[in-house]
Amino acid sequence: MPRIIHPLSESSEGLFENTPDKTSIERFKFFHADEGKPLATPWQVALSRAIMLREYPLPEGVILDCACGSGIQVAAYSEILKRPIVGIELNESRARASAVNFRTVFTERGDNSLNRLKDSVFIVGDGRDGSQIMSLLNLENESIAFLHLDPARPRNSRAHALSEMAPRLDEVFAGWKPYIKCSKSGPAILLDLSPRLSTAQMIEVEDLVEKFWPNTSKTWTWTSRGRGRVDRLALWLGAIAEPTIARRFVRIPPDPTSPPFILLGGKPIAEQEDNQEQQFIQPQRGSYVSIIDAALVESGMANDWLNASSIDNYVWAESQGRRPMIYHQKVFQQTAKSPNNLIVATGRIVDLIEGELTIDSADKFVEIFLQHDIGKVTVRASLDPKLQPKLQGSFDRQLVRRHGSREAFLLRNPKGENYLLCVKN
Ligand SMILES: C[S@@+](CC[C@H](N)C(=O)[O-])C[C@H]1O[C@@H](n2cnc3c(N)ncnc32)[C@H](O)[C@@H]1O
Repeated sequence: MPRIIHPLSESSEGLFENTPDKTSIERFKFFHADEGKPLATPWQVALSRAIMLREYPLPEGVILDCACGSGIQVAAYSEILKRPIVGIELNESRARASAVNFRTVFTERGDNSLNRLKDSVFIVGDGRDGSQIMSLLNLENESIAFLHLDPARPRNSRAHALSEMAPRLDEVFAGWKPYIKCSKSGPAILLDLSPRLSTAQMIEVEDLVEKFWPNTSKTWTWTSRGRGRVDRLALWLGAIAEPTIARRFVRIPPDPTSPPFILLGGKPIAEQEDNQEQQFIQPQRGSYVSIIDAALVESGMANDWLNASSIDNYVWAESQGRRPMIYHQKVFQQTAKSPNNLIVATGRIVDLIEGELTIDSADKFVEIFLQHDIGKVTVRASLDPKLQPKLQGSFDRQLVRRHGSREAFLLRNPKGENYLLCVKN
């Protein structure tokens, strides 16, 4: 039988995993029971998502997270939307941790509208069982305004199959369909999924949504906190989707007080993703090369961003992996639409250096750097992880004594056996 926990009165006794969330300005200390920390949403991600959600008119009713973990995301929704929430969690200690975390956020952010705290509840129970929970809470049909679902995935899964998610999407949809309000564009649901979902699996998720709610609007959202990594891949549905926009890229800046950069556009998800067509082109001295943020490229929206920025006539030299890159003929000028941090490095190719990059050949490379008045070089090539720091250290030591005035980076030619020496703009 499910049990209700009240954040107003729940004690933290017996909860041990209490760690600071480094992404929060407030330095919240959250409880994460039963090794729940890796599952929890970082506060900064949760908060910026809640701020984005505020832009959409949600109907009156309950905000529900039916697999709430440590309750971080649902607490952020409540803070920003100023509404009470319901969080459901199968694991009793985690449900208790959620209640305590909710109270921590509420009190430390200094809210005094006690009704929000009093009316919010966490439930130890099965988040698939809508009917049981609705009768426990004494709620009527269609009283759920918004449903958030961040299912757990097995830690060592390679497949990231939909059937491995806990709880499963189809079971949650079946359990909650009668109770969620549905507008013309569909129900307001946010599915927080694995960033490793394949295109085929994304299509599978879309088909599942269509089976339950035909003609629902859908916007896939890639969220990155930098370093080329996609941290979250979520599907925003119905009233919280952009009606005709299939994709959104969100870059959360390192400074937690700055707003995220949001890019909308892209093509609908298709089995053959054809956004960044790689070309077999040899690099030329004098042309420019830019490494593009790998997370932006993964979202399939890099061309949208590049087309809106000042770079024209570019070709993709490498469109996959950790260092996607383009060649272009004009210098990259930063504009408001093109925040610099989506360009990892940009510069002009001043030399093509033949041969392997090893400890033995390092001196030959340094000679060439000096011919180009280079005082610092960053190696941006995939090398043996043991070799990389040794080579970088050798370059740093040799160049610092020689007082070159220009800064450069070194790339491996994706289509050849040589290296590109690029001077930064
Ligand atoms: C990825 S975590 C959610 C993390 C959460 N978004 C946060 O911000 O802390 C998923 C949670 O779903 C819970 N879960 C799995 N099956 C469930 C079910 N049938 N009903 C309710 N919760 C379930 C797991 O115990 C786990 O804590």
